[in-house]
Amino acid sequence: MRYPDELIDEIRQRNDIVDVVGSFVSLKRQGSNYTGLCPFHSEKTPSFAVSPTKQMCHCFGCGAGGNVITFIMKYQNATFPEALKYLADRAGIELPEPEYSEEEKQRRSVRDELLNINLKAAGFFCYRLKDREGEVGLKYLKGRGLSDETIKQFGLGFAPLSRDNLFNYLKKQGFSTEAIRESGLVTFDEAKGFTDKFWNRVMFPIADERNRVIAFGGRVMSDAKPKYLNSPETAVFDKSRTIYGLNIARSTRRDFFILCEGYMDVISQHQAGFNNAIASLGTAFTSGHASIIKRFKKPVYLAYDSDGAGVNAALRAIKILRESDVVCRVINLRPYKDPDEFIKNEGAEAYEQRIKEAENGFLFEVRILYESKNMSDPDEKTAFIKGVCELLASMPDEVERESYMSAFTERYGIAAETVKRTVASIAAKNGGEYRPVDRPKPAPSRPKDPDESIKRIQRTLLTWMCEDTGIYRAVKDYISPSDFTDRIYFAVATRMFSDIEAGNLNPAALVNMFEEEADQAVVAEIFNTEMEPVESKQDKEKALGDMVYAIKRNSLDTLDKAEGGSVEDMMRSIEEHKKLEKLRSVKFTLK
Ligand code: UTP
Ligand code: MN
Repeated sequence: MRYPDELIDEIRQRNDIVDVVGSFVSLKRQGSNYTGLCPFHSEKTPSFAVSPTKQMCHCFGCGAGGNVITFIMKYQNATFPEALKYLADRAGIELPEPEYSEEEKQRRSVRDELLNINLKAAGFFCYRLKDREGEVGLKYLKGRGLSDETIKQFGLGFAPLSRDNLFNYLKKQGFSTEAIRESGLVTFDEAKGFTDKFWNRVMFPIADERNRVIAFGGRVMSDAKPKYLNSPETAVFDKSRTIYGLNIARSTRRDFFILCEGYMDVISQHQAGFNNAIASLGTAFTSGHASIIKRFKKPVYLAYDSDGAGVNAALRAIKILRESDVVCRVINLRPYKDPDEFIKNEGAEAYEQRIKEAENGFLFEVRILYESKNMSDPDEKTAFIKGVCELLASMPDEVERESYMSAFTERYGIAAETVKRTVASIAAKNGGEYRPVDRPKPAPSRPKDPDESIKRIQRTLLTWMCEDTGIYRAVKDYISPSDFTDRIYFAVATRMFSDIEAGNLNPAALVNMFEEEADQAVVAEIFNTEMEPVESKQDKEKALGDMVYAIKRNSLDTLDKAEGGSVEDMMRSIEEHKKLEKLRSVKFTLK
């Protein structure tokens, strides 16, 4: 989605950053700047600075910063268009219909129609729940302890035992047969014609983060299979990127999420006051889900079923969360099966207590492994220790590994030296890299995107340049936009370099270059990157040299791989590598 740059500029200019930030954070004047307690990490002495002249803010503690628009994006967990809308409203500016490319228009019209169909269908299901046909559904939901208010909040409904009621209703609303079919709410069959997909089920509308209905889940009222049926994937529904309940949980005040298995678990937790409960739907938890959650920078508490299948699902989720750098803990629900049952039997307070006692994800993995072994058998005991060591060896972060190592050796009374040695030898065998331990064959996957670390360096350099154009001047002779191998960073660098040269660098305009919200979020992250605070100017210059070298080197490697084997290519590559070696001795000086 794109708005004209001039409009974005106007919105930015009419929202003074000191006023806006000052409405959330109490600020005190200090010289030409304002300072306050950083809203993005907890601190006792103010290190969050707002500059009225630059119209930027920056935290010297955690590195968060940006301009007024990216500040709102971060503070309110908002998308770029949402932040823009908020600030436009605040300044009394009316947002025009956004500008779309032809291709985007086409895509949007299909998506809009599907969203409209889903919205109408949700209304249809709600209405049915309240009439005679829906009695059985309403009785079921009440029987499971849901209040009218909860039923309303989650928009629950009922799909009656009929062949094509919904289809006819949607036709009457003027939707084309083609579009209705594409929504997945109706199936087509040569013999039977059009039939509703959902029959005799209580219906759970699935909303995206912006509260638009993108799909449904339906629970059958009999013993028929499957128990839960979900809409198929469509242009508006991507299962692996949809999290049930996140539309509400995204604005929770609690500082963690509770991840559970099903619709009913989410809903009963919300009803009990845990409005931070979410679930992945009908599919296992994936790295796609993890990357969405990661944006919120909150730990995840797992509340999976306490049976064998639930424990296995939890073990998988822990791995995925670890690979995405999301802190995770596990809530013990025993003797109950799931959070829904637990809360029904023990109440919210007892649940709150279980949350307090939740077990660290790693220690949970270790305990499950421990319980699966007979520790009086030396072979099994060895297997246990080895298993844990492999887990430890898979941790890319050394500090994390060390602290888990000591937690483990202390708790299980195992010699720290043995563990350390075993971990080191496993890590060496794996080439110092992670290899999943629970698969029969060595799989080539690694915990982190192999490009993740270089991407992080590219992003950090962009962040630095944006905050201090002096850094741009120091490196511009060595780095060009094409050295940014990431698609988005390349586009940002291209524009950023020319904007700095022209003297009108504007973070929001950079965000606005992209149409997809996901891309916009990636760009906004550049202005909110949390970097390690660098102490002295000298350290910063050294770090800068390292970054430039790493980026250049990666860009050369990428080029080498892409190039054919001609002599010219080879000569050029040799030249470039020579330059790279020279770069090593360049001293970057900052003013
Ligand atoms: P469960 O069967 O544990 O759900 O499946 P539940 O919430 O305990 O079910 P009831 O209503 O209390 O008996 C957990 C989740 O797995 C997905 C659904 O998202 C469900 O909420 N699921 C389960 C399916 O998609 N299809 C199925 O057939 C079963
Ligand atoms: Mn259940």
